[in-house]
Amino acid sequence: MKVNELREAFIEYFQEREHRPIPSASLVPHGDPTLLFTTAGMVQFKPYFLGLERPPAPRLTSIQRCFRTSDVEEVGDDDHLTFFEMLGNFSIGDYFKSEAISWSWEFLTDVLEIPGDRLWATVYVEDDEAYELWSAIGLPDERILRYTAEQGNWWGPPGDTGPMGPCSELHYDWGINTGCETCDVGSCHPDEGCGRFLEIWNLVFMQYELLDDGSQRDLPAANIDTGAGLERLASVLQAEKSVYMTDELKMLITQAESITGHEYDPANYETAFALRAMSEHARAFTFLVTDGVLPSNEGRGYVLRRLIRRAVYFSRKLDVHANFFAKMVATAIDISLPNNPDLHDNRQFLLDLADSEESRFRATLDRALSLLEGVLEESRATGIISGKDAFTLYDTHGLPPELTREVALSHGFQVDLTEFEVEMEEQRERSKNSSDNDQQTDVAKHYAAVGIASEFVGYADLTSSSTIRFIETASDRIELASDEISVIFDQTPFYPEGGGQISDTGTVSSERGQGLVIDVQRFGESIVHRIKVTSGHFADSDSVDCEVDPARRLNISRNHTATHLLHSALRSVLGEHVRQAGSYVGPDYLRFDYTHPQALADDELEALTEIVSSKTRANITSATLELPYEEAIERGAIAFFEDRYTADVRMVEYCDTRGHAPEHEHSDHCYSRELCGGTHLSSTGLLGDFLILSDSSIGAGLRRIEACTGDAASIELRGQLKTLRDVAHKLQTNYKDILPRIEALEGNITALESELKQHQSSSAEQLAQNLAEQAKRLGDTNLLLVETTSTQSQLREISDELQSEFDSLILVLAGTSDQSTSLLVSVSEDLISKEIDSRSLVANITDITGGGGGGRPQLAQAGIKDSSRLREAYAQVEGLLRAQLMD
Ligand code: ALA
Repeated sequence: MKVNELREAFIEYFQEREHRPIPSASLVPHGDPTLLFTTAGMVQFKPYFLGLERPPAPRLTSIQRCFRTSDVEEVGDDDHLTFFEMLGNFSIGDYFKSEAISWSWEFLTDVLEIPGDRLWATVYVEDDEAYELWSAIGLPDERILRYTAEQGNWWGPPGDTGPMGPCSELHYDWGINTGCETCDVGSCHPDEGCGRFLEIWNLVFMQYELLDDGSQRDLPAANIDTGAGLERLASVLQAEKSVYMTDELKMLITQAESITGHEYDPANYETAFALRAMSEHARAFTFLVTDGVLPSNEGRGYVLRRLIRRAVYFSRKLDVHANFFAKMVATAIDISLPNNPDLHDNRQFLLDLADSEESRFRATLDRALSLLEGVLEESRATGIISGKDAFTLYDTHGLPPELTREVALSHGFQVDLTEFEVEMEEQRERSKNSSDNDQQTDVAKHYAAVGIASEFVGYADLTSSSTIRFIETASDRIELASDEISVIFDQTPFYPEGGGQISDTGTVSSERGQGLVIDVQRFGESIVHRIKVTSGHFADSDSVDCEVDPARRLNISRNHTATHLLHSALRSVLGEHVRQAGSYVGPDYLRFDYTHPQALADDELEALTEIVSSKTRANITSATLELPYEEAIERGAIAFFEDRYTADVRMVEYCDTRGHAPEHEHSDHCYSRELCGGTHLSSTGLLGDFLILSDSSIGAGLRRIEACTGDAASIELRGQLKTLRDVAHKLQTNYKDILPRIEALEGNITALESELKQHQSSSAEQLAQNLAEQAKRLGDTNLLLVETTSTQSQLREISDELQSEFDSLILVLAGTSDQSTSLLVSVSEDLISKEIDSRSLVANITDITGGGGGGRPQLAQAGIKDSSRLREAYAQVEGLLRAQLMD
């Protein structure tokens, strides 16, 4: 059975058993600070297990793309992967152990036709119920093993806190004689990890939550979370012990073979290892980048960078010295395209990024590795590479410490990673402020416990008559000033911060109190308002009039709508690879972060502005639809990579239907269609002016546009026009003629400069002629000692002039201009043989005046410190020369 047939069979089997298929979430977990990556199918369902949100259905199934960093160094062996797909079925407080166990058995043995006598089950040591269920299915006692948590039969939480429970694992037996020596006599078992057994499915009985303080409590319900590794299961079905020989991954190995010219032969371990690592990392790169991760030196981006660098390192071991990574990425895209159409739009971006990252690393890799060899040599006595050395290799040459460690280990050395971390601490700014995040999670849990749902009515109304359902004054959970309260209403027109859009502000008033709403946040079903009480007070059950600041809301909506139009414009001008990587939508301006490898040209910026403005002028009406996620995506809606799946989604679209049939859903006339919970303009005409303020780089392949709309844009534009008028006024022209006027002025300046130059050289000539007359004779030689007000460059000209006038001349010239004095001494060629040297004459003078300089025997220059002593210095030099030349 091919990998893709397995995907289909799994979903179909569970769909028949009333499971709702849920699309894979991003590899970047949405709003989950406890996790760097999505590591299991259950990650996107955590809020359901914790009882923080209602699931779209009690039974769910998914094929989740997962990324795990724990085994990176083992990637290259037969079956470790950083990126893999997990098949899962889930019950949120619905069925439990009995169904989970019997369905997994049925699927494996009936649908996939895996012989039952090849399967072993393990259960948590105290879980008699699971034991009995396996027994009832017909598994003999010797193939049902009781394992402890340490042996792997307790799963979770993913991250430091969260849902967990005992689990039961299914292992496939490749048969005796397929692993270690004990396997040969048939007496080993799955926990020995000797290669005879392969864990293929984990059934987790999710019942508990692990808390921050290490204690645990019951989850609101007993749940099921299962995970079967797609590639592993495929390896069983395709009778290939290595996952790399299953049909999809094998294509990558073939590509790696053709790039390196090395044949894949598992018996040749080192080569096979390198080919596998190159293949795996290219596929992981493809999916990480598609889900919004970009190379950087921290957090997720650093993990990504490590993968590329590791792949490059292994390619080099197979004598690949030119870029290869993009070719592997291209193959990974081709293989995965049928199930991941997004890859198509991202193709060029992925290839460019792969190539530029590889080039960057290759530029320093050779040097880094030869330095590492030197370090290994020097560390021979201790067998330990110091953290400092590892840090230098990383910081200056980009060699990830993990790679240093891997290379070191292969030579039998250790790396002092503790010292490395100390070095790193000063250098690296952590990608996340975990204490902030922890606090956020605490607050979320607090309001989940409060459990009051509020309705947001602010799409349609900016005012509402609401009732206080919950009120909280300053508490130690959330630090508030004493006159600030947190309030949950039954319904509210105030938009809670989300999707990049900041929260509304406004006023609330009741019969006995008045207050300003200064912040609004959503926690699960609750919308919490932070209110500054300005008079009186508020109490539970009070009726309150809520009013959103309408002008501020309008400006926010302008910026949000502009963000959507800009997003679409970026995709039409730059290409479909453009992805939103983050945004800020406030009343004052908008910020849009997106993926694109290079700076925008002026004409591209111009085109973006024109598109947004033309859509504004067209005054396109918005439509907002609630529809199933799959349908929205089908209709071409853009989803932000961090968006989480919910059963029904809100889609905001701007479709120009004038002159077209009303059923415009599938037409090209929808310029913008996005999944979005934000507030928008009812029609684009309200946007007003649109102005891009800046476009800048914020990281590899990542750019940021800042722009403004409406009032802010008008004010900015008027300001710019005023400056233009002022400039025109200064230039005594009108604004249309500013440029020709400036060009004319530039012409004038050039002409004046050359005139000045001419004038200066003719005055140097003049001066030289006058000075010539003052020359003193020392035998056949002329001597001139002069003080002038010439500049340094003029001194050169005077010297050239005078030296051409005399056959034999010693010239000592000082020039004082701009409060500094320069000295130039030149002597004609005939005097060199008489051992007259400009440099020593300069030294004679600066000995007295201070200062210093240098030059050649024929010409030397110096700066003079104390020009008032020049006369004295001249007298001395004259005396010396007289003595030398006249004797
Ligand atoms: N969440 C379980 C695992 O990842 C199924 O193994």
